Amino acid sequence: MTRRYAELVALDAVDLRIESGAAVALTGPSGSGKSTVLHLLGGMDRPTEGTVDVDGEELTARRLDAHRRSVGFVFQRFHLLPALTVLDNVLAPVLPRRVDFDRQERATELLEAVGLAERANALPSELSGGQQQRVAIARALINRPGLLLADEPTGNLDSTTGREIVELLLSLRERYGTTMLVATHDVEVAANCDRIVRLLDGRIVADDQVTPDGDVLGRLGGLRP
Ligand SMILES: Nc1ncnc2c1ncn2[C@@H]1O[C@H](COP(=O)(O)OP(=O)(O)OP(=O)(O)O)[C@@H](O)[C@H]1O
Ligand SMILES: [Mg+2]
Repeated sequence: MTRRYAELVALDAVDLRIESGAAVALTGPSGSGKSTVLHLLGGMDRPTEGTVDVDGEELTARRLDAHRRSVGFVFQRFHLLPALTVLDNVLAPVLPRRVDFDRQERATELLEAVGLAERANALPSELSGGQQQRVAIARALINRPGLLLADEPTGNLDSTTGREIVELLLSLRERYGTTMLVATHDVEVAANCDRIVRLLDGRIVADDQVTPDGDVLGRLGGLRP
């Protein structure tokens, strides 16, 4: 897929295939196109050329709304609604809609899963950054998304809290079978994923598998330093 902004080619014929259930880190310098990839995959933006396919089907304009609801998004700055309690923030994406599950039950389960059941009635301003990000993660999972897109989820956190957030994301992926794509500058976050895709100037310049021992293998099997 390609995404141009006037003269600027933000993504240049990127061909990225993501296996269901994988945890993929997207790395690369500022401006290399990481967020653009997430926005295209999340249906928040459209490619100027090429297609985005989900489960083997092209993401057409008609499918965009439904697709956006099947994707969870986590941001660097949490983006919680300050006037709403923790529980209501988690519920916010499903409040205006008819859903086929018990909202309260699901939200409570997710708050337990992120370790914040006790803080359901707190306001975001009463929580630490790491706790606020946990709320944002619970909110992102309220629709049981098949795909979770995280844009610098640890960028506003200290390294210990960041590590906890990554561990949480990976354990939730295991629990719910969610595919994860994480844009990150943090090498430790990337090393905890199964695969690291590196972008430079809108192109993929490396695509490496991470072994369970933490070794990084190039696509052709060579070990990288
Ligand atoms: N709405 C927009 N209008 C014009 N140019 C844009 C727009 N969004 C992104 N770009 C440009 O596209 C390129 C890729 O941007 P993108 O935000 O994907 O980079 P990134 O890898 O996420 O960077 P960072 O690490 O700073 O978040 C940059 O050159 C950026 O300036
Ligand atoms: Mg970005």
